[in-house]
Amino acid sequence: MNYDIRDKSLAPYGHTKIEWVRNNMPLLRGFEEEFRNAKPFDGVRISLSIHLEPKTAYLCKVLAAGGAQMSITGSNSLSTQDDVCAALVDDGLSVFAYHGATDEEYARHIEMALEHKPNIIIDDGGDLVGLVHGKRPDLAEECWGGCEETTTGIMRLKAMERDGILKFPMLAVNDADCKHLFDNRYGTGQSVWDSIMRNTNLIVASKTVVVAGYGWCSRGIAMRAAALGARVIVTEIDPIKAMEAKMDGYDVMKMEQAAPLGDIFISATGCMHTITVEHMLTMKDRAILANAGHFNVEVDMIGLEAAAIEKKESRANIMEYTLPNGKSVNVIGEGKLVNIAAGDGHPAEIMDLSFAVQIMSAQYVLEHHSELPNAVIDVSSEIDDVIARRRLKAWGIEIDELTEEQKAYLGSY
Ligand code: NAI
Repeated sequence: MNYDIRDKSLAPYGHTKIEWVRNNMPLLRGFEEEFRNAKPFDGVRISLSIHLEPKTAYLCKVLAAGGAQMSITGSNSLSTQDDVCAALVDDGLSVFAYHGATDEEYARHIEMALEHKPNIIIDDGGDLVGLVHGKRPDLAEECWGGCEETTTGIMRLKAMERDGILKFPMLAVNDADCKHLFDNRYGTGQSVWDSIMRNTNLIVASKTVVVAGYGWCSRGIAMRAAALGARVIVTEIDPIKAMEAKMDGYDVMKMEQAAPLGDIFISATGCMHTITVEHMLTMKDRAILANAGHFNVEVDMIGLEAAAIEKKESRANIMEYTLPNGKSVNVIGEGKLVNIAAGDGHPAEIMDLSFAVQIMSAQYVLEHHSELPNAVIDVSSEIDDVIARRRLKAWGIEIDELTEEQKAYLGSY
């Protein structure tokens, strides 16, 4: 069993964390139960790269219970929890990750997680798939297909499909209703504020919060900011989304207009440089900046590092940069995903939904890969339907069914 982790003695702490999320993930518990006997993934090699914290660890354990041979890494070294890695290794799974790995070490971990030549890849942001389409095509020789967790990863996959180089089918897990409507909106909405409040220990009510983007993540962030009592300003490039933000009750303007007004800035666009050094120079002194998009390119950290005349840690996880005009900005979690790199990630119940989509999508790849084109594939609405019904059942909620009369009415013209 190969692995590359920091400290195996941390395993007991990891087991406790995983047990907590397990108790709050009823869908995954259901799959675990089914898989123990059915073993649908018996002998299937799966490489997985998702933020390596307790919810992901439990997903790995459920897939392993289904017979999968798991080879695991994180998708951001700051979100990797060493005790969770130790617990997985203690359970006999292969893990290649540790908290705070350098970019080179992280790249090595991605490669190591692929060395067992996966049949299925479960990716979050496209790092595994990126490697087998670049430096290590040999590792994809036995790959039937995979699943992508997030918006940014799907953007990268669609670019590969457009250029005709995608080597296997990839299911767009993010685009399933049971994923983005809940994870991106309610999960990001809650966990981004959880992280900002914990890291700053400041009040949100009375502040002006500027949210870049009004997609699924950013609308969750804006909704929760308003509920906490903030004035919310939204910036957008899409006129329809901008109009929705306006109708939802927020101020909408350009970032250059919002920059001098905001106290807290959060970007969740999947785009680069939504907050530039030019914007920062016009901000209030000690403005707080955070990124909730997948990559740390939304706040221009490279530009900021170059422009700043001084840099100091103003609080754990917060770096204060003094700008040439004498004012400073405070960046949480190095401009990486604020809710994951500087927080606990999404609530367990949210990841239960997202990972239920992952599990059913991986099963779909297993059963249908020979019929699928090398393209980005939508998750079928049947999968969404099964998961939504199971989640409602776990809540004890029953819903109405169409009567034959109603079906006839809806089908008439
Ligand atoms: P989305 O596609 O629903 O929304 C993105 C929005 O940003 C769109 O409305 C787009 O018009 C807008 N936008 C693009 N460029 C912009 C710019 N330069 N200025 C202002 N607005 C701009 O995407 P979604 O699902 O909200 O995801 C956004 C990012 O968050 C992605 O990188 C995704 O991978 C990531 N993500 C992060 C999560 C977290 O836990 N922090 C969870 C899920 C996704």
